Amino acid sequence: MTKKGFPKNFLWGGALAANQVEGAWNIDGKGLSVADMATYRSNLSLDDYEGHMAISSDFIEKARKDKDDKVYPKRRGIDFYHRYKEDLALFAEMGFKVLRISIAWSRIFPTGEELEPNEKGLQFYENLFTEMKRLGIEPIVTLSHYEMPLELSLKYNGWVERKVIDDFVLFCNVCFHRYKDLVKYWLTFNEIDSINRHSFTTAGIIPDRCPEGKEDETIYQALHHQFVASALVTANCHRIIEGSQVGCMLTKLTTYPYTCNPNDVEITLKKNLHNYFYADVQVFGEYPVMIERMFERNNIQIKMEPNDREILRNHTVDFVSFSYYMSLTESAEDGLEKTAGNTIMGVKNPHLPSTEWGWQIDPVGLKISLIELYDRYKKPLIIVENGMGAVDKVEEDGSIHDDYRINYFREHFKQMKEAVEDGVDLFGYTSWGPIDLISAGTSQMSKRYGFIYVDQDDEGNGTLNRRRKDSFYWYKKVIESNGEDL
Ligand code: BG6
Repeated sequence: MTKKGFPKNFLWGGALAANQVEGAWNIDGKGLSVADMATYRSNLSLDDYEGHMAISSDFIEKARKDKDDKVYPKRRGIDFYHRYKEDLALFAEMGFKVLRISIAWSRIFPTGEELEPNEKGLQFYENLFTEMKRLGIEPIVTLSHYEMPLELSLKYNGWVERKVIDDFVLFCNVCFHRYKDLVKYWLTFNEIDSINRHSFTTAGIIPDRCPEGKEDETIYQALHHQFVASALVTANCHRIIEGSQVGCMLTKLTTYPYTCNPNDVEITLKKNLHNYFYADVQVFGEYPVMIERMFERNNIQIKMEPNDREILRNHTVDFVSFSYYMSLTESAEDGLEKTAGNTIMGVKNPHLPSTEWGWQIDPVGLKISLIELYDRYKKPLIIVENGMGAVDKVEEDGSIHDDYRINYFREHFKQMKEAVEDGVDLFGYTSWGPIDLISAGTSQMSKRYGFIYVDQDDEGNGTLNRRRKDSFYWYKKVIESNGEDL
């Protein structure tokens, strides 16, 4: 008999990142992180789309002395730091089985290099996980989600220097020991591939400090350090926490050829392989041959220590997690209409509608991604980000009718279900931003993903009160019926 529907213990829930929700950027000993440098950007022009997250030394110098949180929305977040109990209660009301959160490294090690961790930071996450346990919500914890201590970025150009591996390993060990009875699922680096799209946010790399003409080499060197760190951390986690599970996390940028012209197909194939490369290293434990060839061709020389390859080979991940928001389209021809995506641009696909931010809505692309990932890695999969950023309107009576969001999720869930019925081992789903939060890319508040509305505008005005949107009640029903009642 063919299996129908989602597995019995399917982990339904939502996903957050510390720097986009917590606020309290200078409270209880927290140090500055790279996220605290991000400023609000509206109306991104397509011309500047991929460059909009670049940052300069001069800007950082000015921003780190600036004590205000007005222009740096991630510093204020949605005040999850003080309101997490209320928010967790709402997640529990929806029936969440799992919540993905991240630990802000600079809350535990304010500059990244202290010898002892900051107890107040550790206590905050202990309280959070304890409350989740009380509510029956399983945590899935990202150790690095765009929030490395700023001091490490300034001192070492982030992950470019190998020393940062030791700092990160220490931070992770402290977390594993402290939370070993509370957290079983861990992710090392959020969207590890994004180092190539926004290297400061992902790895603390300040572009004007990279040797001229060696920008790519610098980025791949930092990435290599992250790969090694991820493998070491995976080994430590397994050793310290019995039964723990560690995953990699990829931005799944599924790309289609614009036409069946072989030139379009080839360029697309290469794009997709490049996207896989980041997870390949963490799952297979080695660099793909074609990536090594690309390094040679471009005179990119990665400094490796003698046992790095062995470390990568010996400590691969237990499962694969990924974000999926949209698909992309690629063509060998120039001059085709472009559209924006998750910090990336692609050719506009004439068959797909887009969100107000230009991200193409493609539920079938999620099924394709699931099938491809499972076929390639044969590891359990979990979708740890998916959703639709939209402007919501609060009606006079306080209700929010976000049928567009419900439709987005419904269509994606149908495709997930089909993939599962096709044999994909998918064990969970966490929607991105189940409560409205600060956008990673633009620091906007008005780009809302949540089932729960937060009363705050782009300038930080508002009561911060939480409200249930229509999608809140709908997702509750979905979870209750284990994905049957869509
Ligand atoms: C992912 C990030 O790339 O996309 C999240 O992991 C982010 O942190 C999400 O918030 C959506 O992007 P944005 O720019 O709309 O917040």
